[in-house]
Amino acid sequence: MAPAAYRRYMEELRPCVVQISGGEPLMREDVVEIVRQIKGGTKLPYTILVSNWSLMTEQKYLELREAGVDQFSVSLDFPDGRHDDFRGYPGLYGHLEDLIPRLARLGHDDIVLNSCITSENLGEITAIADNARAWGVNLCYSAYSPRRTGCRDYFPGSPEQLVRLNAELDRLEARRDKTNWIVNAPATLEATRRYFANGGTPGCTAGMRFLVVTASGALQPCSMQFQRYRLEDRERMIREFTRTNRCDECYVSIRSYLDKSFPQLLWENVSGFLALK
Ligand SMILES: C[S@@+](CC[C@H](N)C(=O)[O-])C[C@H]1O[C@@H](n2cnc3c(N)ncnc32)[C@H](O)[C@@H]1O
Repeated sequence: MAPAAYRRYMEELRPCVVQISGGEPLMREDVVEIVRQIKGGTKLPYTILVSNWSLMTEQKYLELREAGVDQFSVSLDFPDGRHDDFRGYPGLYGHLEDLIPRLARLGHDDIVLNSCITSENLGEITAIADNARAWGVNLCYSAYSPRRTGCRDYFPGSPEQLVRLNAELDRLEARRDKTNWIVNAPATLEATRRYFANGGTPGCTAGMRFLVVTASGALQPCSMQFQRYRLEDRERMIREFTRTNRCDECYVSIRSYLDKSFPQLLWENVSGFLALK
């Protein structure tokens, strides 16, 4: 879609949060204009750009901020050069190591590393958190889904892997402090443990609480469900897909935020501001 076409989707869907992802969104030379169209000169929707940052520069970061990106979500799978091997992208970790601390020092507090937990980086969960801290940015964990790749090898579901996963997550919980640098709520990481232990998480509300607008303008309930609908057919998508959906095959962070009830979201996000203790 051309950037201007995104305005109509904003007017029809009226989302409070938009995540621009891919594929790799920075490969689109008009991504800044797309952000402008999504924001329409207002504060909402809260807009997150999810990217591997291979093409990010200081100038692009500032342009995207100015256009209205509220949060930059940067993928990081390993706290060192193994990130390059895992991603098949030589030099990527060095690029992030140079750029991210520099941009963090500008003080906008809008960079969050996004780390997808797999069987390969299971032992690195706390090391990745330390990496985020050293770079002066926040960190969000997500859980690997074989549904996206068709490959179960990276799913840490064996008894031995689950023991390692739980030990790492215990260590991580001990590192939490008031700064909220680990942005997943404790309840979300508990649910992530259960997702890996049970091999899935039922109760997905894809299509209703969240949906995907593809680059060609179709609606999909989720990035891993390929039934496509026109913008006008959103209600039909909910009737046909969401009401009968039994897929339990992911616990990616979009889902982990949006499957929660409103009272739970309120509690997790607001209780820290209340003096209950
Ligand atoms: C699909 S990518 C797209 C944006 C961009 N190309 C990137 O790499 O960040 C968005 C996020 O999904 C994560 N991801 C990739 N494959 C996944 C899978 N099978 N299960 C869960 N998350 C996955 C990536 O690590 C990345 O943080």
